[in-house]
Amino acid sequence: MKFTASSDVDRSCAPRACVDLSALRRNADTVRKLLPSKRLMAVVKGDAYGHGLVESAMALVDAGVEALGVASLEEALELRDAGVPEAVRILAWLYAPVHNDARIAEAIRARIDLSVGSMEHLAAVHRAATSVGELVRVHLEMDTGLGRGGVQMSVWDDLARAAALHEASGAIRIVGLWTQLSYADAPEDPVNERQLAVFRRGEAVAQSYGLRFEAVHTSTSARALTRPTSELYGDTVRIGLALFGVSPVSGTSSHFWGLSPVLSVTAPIVQVKFLEAGARIGYDESHRLSRDGYIGLVPMGYADGVPKYLSRGADVSVRGRRHAVVAVNMDQFLIDLGRDPVPVGAVATILGSDGAVTIDANDWGAAIGSYGDEIVVRFGAGLPRTY
Ligand SMILES: Cc1ncc(COP(=O)(O)O)c(C=O)c1O
Repeated sequence: MKFTASSDVDRSCAPRACVDLSALRRNADTVRKLLPSKRLMAVVKGDAYGHGLVESAMALVDAGVEALGVASLEEALELRDAGVPEAVRILAWLYAPVHNDARIAEAIRARIDLSVGSMEHLAAVHRAATSVGELVRVHLEMDTGLGRGGVQMSVWDDLARAAALHEASGAIRIVGLWTQLSYADAPEDPVNERQLAVFRRGEAVAQSYGLRFEAVHTSTSARALTRPTSELYGDTVRIGLALFGVSPVSGTSSHFWGLSPVLSVTAPIVQVKFLEAGARIGYDESHRLSRDGYIGLVPMGYADGVPKYLSRGADVSVRGRRHAVVAVNMDQFLIDLGRDPVPVGAVATILGSDGAVTIDANDWGAAIGSYGDEIVVRFGAGLPRTY
């Protein structure tokens, strides 16, 4: 085989992720324009869905988001340390209420809003706020059916009453009320309406104890993009996927929603070989070549976020053509180049655009029975990133 030098030969010789922060800012603008009457809480948990926590959050702050949402106190503190101004609220919703007073106190000093979704959390936050001597802003979390964080309706009254009492004591201020819907990714599912009805009842109970909320939030990307604004219960939306340019609605591309993918992942092909029809390749001879052709070896595997079982098939693009992934090991995977020999060092686009071809995180997500968020969060974390 003879090849001439080509501009698509990867001279970095290593897999890498590239994060397009201007696309992230543009996506934030697009979401804002779609939802002009809502405040935007950008969800940047999971290292900003694998895009880099601090870099992504700063770009989103630049784009004017009012708040950031994260799971852990550590993520929230990292954001404040990195310079997210106090005018931008940061909400953290996943932390232990026991053996954790020092960290909770640190979060209060850093002006982090804390979610409270159990009596234990309420007690811990009250204890820490009293010891710090500063007022903490609290969002109450209601479990309307998902069964994870939050207090369910059967015991909601207890939490609402206790929260109101603590507020009266002056150590905490209840500013928010929120829930995560069980069918957050399927906005048309009637269960969502049932859960929102429970939520409204919970809100009324809380109000009956004198609580008033400045931030009520129930909607995430799929609902926010597909339902009329009037149906998005609350004044704030918590948006992750859409900001990162991954379509939250299966069967649609990000471009359909006016969003651009933010993460692209590429790797050089490190070996190309010709094999004859009938060759059985991969562990356990898992793949059989149906015709003579070329196989390319890509130096990424499940240690780097490539799912081992791409049972429904996934493609990468090389030189603007799709090629199927045929076997994934811990540190490498094989692609079927068919009759297209390419030079060693050619770039395989694993996520993102390559000429007319776009490899969408949701296609890879579907291949493992999941969504694009699982793919971007896997890929981003372990790879060197350029911004
Ligand atoms: C509590 C919470 N809010 C908001 C989001 C953002 O959802 P999405 O990425 O679909 O916008 C998530 C993500 O799973 C979440 O767990």
